[in-house]
Amino acid sequence: MDIVKYNKSAWDSYVDKKNRWTVAVSDEEIMEAKQGKWSVILTPTLSVPYSWFPTDLKKIKILGLACGGGQQGPILAALGANVTIFDNSPKQLGQDTKMAAKHNLAIDTIEGDMRDLSVFADESFDLIFNPCSIGFVDDILAIWKECYRVLKKDGILMTGLTNPLIFQIDEVTMRLKHKAPYSDKQSLSKEELDKYMNNNEPLMFGHSWTDQIGGQLQAGFMLTDMYEDNWDNTHLFDAYFPGFMATRSIKK
Ligand SMILES: C[S@@+](CC[C@H](N)C(=O)[O-])C[C@H]1O[C@@H](n2cnc3c(N)ncnc32)[C@H](O)[C@@H]1O
Repeated sequence: MDIVKYNKSAWDSYVDKKNRWTVAVSDEEIMEAKQGKWSVILTPTLSVPYSWFPTDLKKIKILGLACGGGQQGPILAALGANVTIFDNSPKQLGQDTKMAAKHNLAIDTIEGDMRDLSVFADESFDLIFNPCSIGFVDDILAIWKECYRVLKKDGILMTGLTNPLIFQIDEVTMRLKHKAPYSDKQSLSKEELDKYMNNNEPLMFGHSWTDQIGGQLQAGFMLTDMYEDNWDNTHLFDAYFPGFMATRSIKK
């Protein structure tokens, strides 16, 4: 099975179902951003600190990587950045296109797989913004290498990461259930996988911290900051450990 192809239609159907990660920001949020009041997320709840961004976003080139849905892209564009949203789902990209047209924002959209950024020349961007999405592909080391290549020197990579334990724990019993490395396709029983796929749920992979953080360092990035975050208290594991992490790295 081609998981990227499957996930394309799964995310398209999430847009139809108005899943939380596909609902564009409001007109009011765009107006406020234009007046300097804004926030964006890389993980489920906490806003990215302002100190992670360059002081002036006007005209800087931002790649929103696997960042469709009309959420972060329109806010960053309202602040004056030239934004390119790259995503695997045409309908997620459509959310950004609609916001760009409605609010006259500088947003380009490109459909593709985040493991292959060959559509971009070396050193094309000042900043890459990648909200929790690398769990939808198998090989994340390829992503870090590509991010390093397309960023300018001193460019910033901000990414949302997922604690691999989330995938290994049984959410009902809170006992360890699956061995690492986790993948929906390999780790679930046939019945469980069929249920996911019948509901058109995107398929995911759990990635080790070595691949998520070590992989960035291996690609040449220097880690400058991080924070941890929870889901929104709808998941049992929130009471036990933080399920998410955001990192900020720079290309040296
Ligand atoms: C959790 S959403 C992230 C965007 C959302 N605006 C947010 O704040 O979380 C995950 C995104 O990753 C995209 N995606 C999944 N697999 C991808 C792939 N192989 N290449 C590029 N984008 C992908 C999905 O289409 C979806 O828009």
